[in-house]
Amino acid sequence: MNNAPLLDTQCDKAIRASFLHFIADPDTSHQAWEYIEDGLLILNKGRVVALGEMSEWLDQLPDGIELTDYSGKLIMPGFFDTHTHYPQTDMIASYGAQLLEWLEKYTFPTEGRFSDRSLADSAADFFCEQLLRNGTTTAGVFATIHPESVDAIFAAAQKRDMCLVSGKVMMDRNAPAFICDTAESSYEDSVTLIQRWHQKGRARYAVTPRFAPTSSEQQLEVAGTLLREYPGLYLQSHVAENHDEVAWVAKLFPQRRSYLDVYDHYRLLGERSIYAHCIHLDEADRVRMSESGAAIAFCPTSNLFLGSGLFSLDDARQHDIRIGIATDVGGGTSFSILQTLNEAYKVCQMAGQSLSPMKAFYLATLGGARSMYLDSQLGNFEPGKEADFVVLDLAATALMKRRMALAESIEDQLFALMMLGDDRCVAATHIMGLCLYSRN
Ligand code: GUN
Ligand code: ZN
Repeated sequence: MNNAPLLDTQCDKAIRASFLHFIADPDTSHQAWEYIEDGLLILNKGRVVALGEMSEWLDQLPDGIELTDYSGKLIMPGFFDTHTHYPQTDMIASYGAQLLEWLEKYTFPTEGRFSDRSLADSAADFFCEQLLRNGTTTAGVFATIHPESVDAIFAAAQKRDMCLVSGKVMMDRNAPAFICDTAESSYEDSVTLIQRWHQKGRARYAVTPRFAPTSSEQQLEVAGTLLREYPGLYLQSHVAENHDEVAWVAKLFPQRRSYLDVYDHYRLLGERSIYAHCIHLDEADRVRMSESGAAIAFCPTSNLFLGSGLFSLDDARQHDIRIGIATDVGGGTSFSILQTLNEAYKVCQMAGQSLSPMKAFYLATLGGARSMYLDSQLGNFEPGKEADFVVLDLAATALMKRRMALAESIEDQLFALMMLGDDRCVAATHIMGLCLYSRN
């Protein structure tokens, strides 16, 4: 980036570190990223003013500016977790089942407890702290069917000024009564929550039908109606995760060409629609994902843990579909985006595909922002963007220190980081410029 004189610019904070951010997708650009080994990030009121070389700016900094020195650490834009479930935090790592049995045995009973606001508040606070501890600053988050659970997660995010996308789960069939709503109540509750939270500060509301098997046709209609009535809403759901699930959807909706076509029929495919998994899609489905502007949330730890299958990153790339990386806690087994990239790499290896470190960290930052349609305000350090960022310690463990000593390039360092790193590597996480988490 060009280092223009700083002297006349309003700024209140400067941060010294190494910096890496993406300006474009490494798949399509040879100059997709910028790395500054000894850099300075200048902020004003929580937004980026400029990013440049330390040597050029050190003697120009305005008097009284707050300088934070993270020399020796690597700063990146905060990570995006494009699909996760905060109520499932307490049942993460539950043994021995694939999707449909896992939902019945662990998920529904756990989610049933979230009518209790104080339990929801405590889980939401813990969840947000876990995000920050892992350098995740933006997430697409499922609540439960209970409106209280949505209030709890948005309140927890608001306290920290975090940009979260969330919404009330809609499900009115094929699940125990204690975890079901109705088409009518899901409409009324969603409207109340949209009016209370959508676009209040950094909160964004997502219409959240759990997945096609647990919504009646009438409820899927309601989801489409909400999207049309309130512009700017998100839509989040699950699709084509597991073979038994796909077969079940074919039985429930015999008139639809495919699982994805069920959602398409109810006009639930478009910009700001985020679909988790997308493992068992076909060519026509991928064309629809691409042309509609919907995004895939790639959930490798969940897909391996639940034995769901291997997502084909190359098929999605070939169709130029928006892709984000996602933990899918608690089907997923880690809050760490670094560990999620590790598993993503291995999923690609199993299919003879490759996930380069630069592509991986693009997916975790600018790619995530693009898949959530937040790239005009987040995802890199362009001037004017909101200063959510993670401070990474690449020598957090003895093993990493040894491995990094031999790393020959920033690519090599990043690859070792995503394979060996986890929350121990997160030295600090900043939201709108403020340090909200510090390892020490
Ligand atoms: N499909 C429907 N609900 C869920 C859920 O909670 N987790 C996962 N992984 N898949 C789902
Ligand atoms: Zn999920």
